[in-house]
Amino acid sequence: MTIHVLDHPLVHHKLSLIRDRKTPGSLFRALIEEVGLILAVESTRDLPVESVVVETPLERTTTLRLKSLDLVLVPVLRAGLGLLPSFLQLLPTAKVGHLGLYRDHDSLVPVPYYRNFPPMLEARPVFVLDPMLATGGSASEAVRQLKSAGAVNLTLVALLAAPEGLERLHADHPDLKIVVGAVDRQLNDKGYILPGLGDAGDRLFGTA
Ligand code: PRP
Ligand code: URA
Repeated sequence: MTIHVLDHPLVHHKLSLIRDRKTPGSLFRALIEEVGLILAVESTRDLPVESVVVETPLERTTTLRLKSLDLVLVPVLRAGLGLLPSFLQLLPTAKVGHLGLYRDHDSLVPVPYYRNFPPMLEARPVFVLDPMLATGGSASEAVRQLKSAGAVNLTLVALLAAPEGLERLHADHPDLKIVVGAVDRQLNDKGYILPGLGDAGDRLFGTA
């Protein structure tokens, strides 16, 4: 499993605002989108490119472009929706699949409730979007479902991860690529990330 932790000054700065319980929902959403842009840039770093010749206003030159614009984004509902606009801004031709999962409050086991994936997953890079990687149960289930639907080139994109979640994914999906904004200290006894940012879905959508 490859893990890329951004550990970037801008990400830390924005995370300091995102983590703050006093940050209102509208600003929280905007900040998630801003960090989402950085995550989108970093998680697409290894996409294949090819040479093309273009005429600039001054001369003919050889330059690079993406070999394929045929990508798939899969936000895990609900909180993954917070990262989707940033990814679509940079990758407007991407297909979007949806996967609905919620964590059972007592067992912390993810419960699937909705699934709609685009076809031909085996031929397309797939980016799973979920800001929070806590126990890793939801991400592991999302990757399991996508693999069973044919996906082979999978990247999980998260804003915050707990060490416990990274270990779980390493055990369940050693072939997975992970891009994460920062790795926090630990989980509490209710499966929340410490210090974390609270419940991402509730803060994004005002349901707390
Ligand atoms: C949150 C989060 C992840 C999951 C992470 O979703 O968005 O999907 O918890 O926890 P895990 O790593 O322990 O599985 P939640 O179940 O709260 O649903 P929501 O996004 O609809 O609020
Ligand atoms: N889901 C969240 O939204 N936050 C956490 O800290 C853990 C799971």
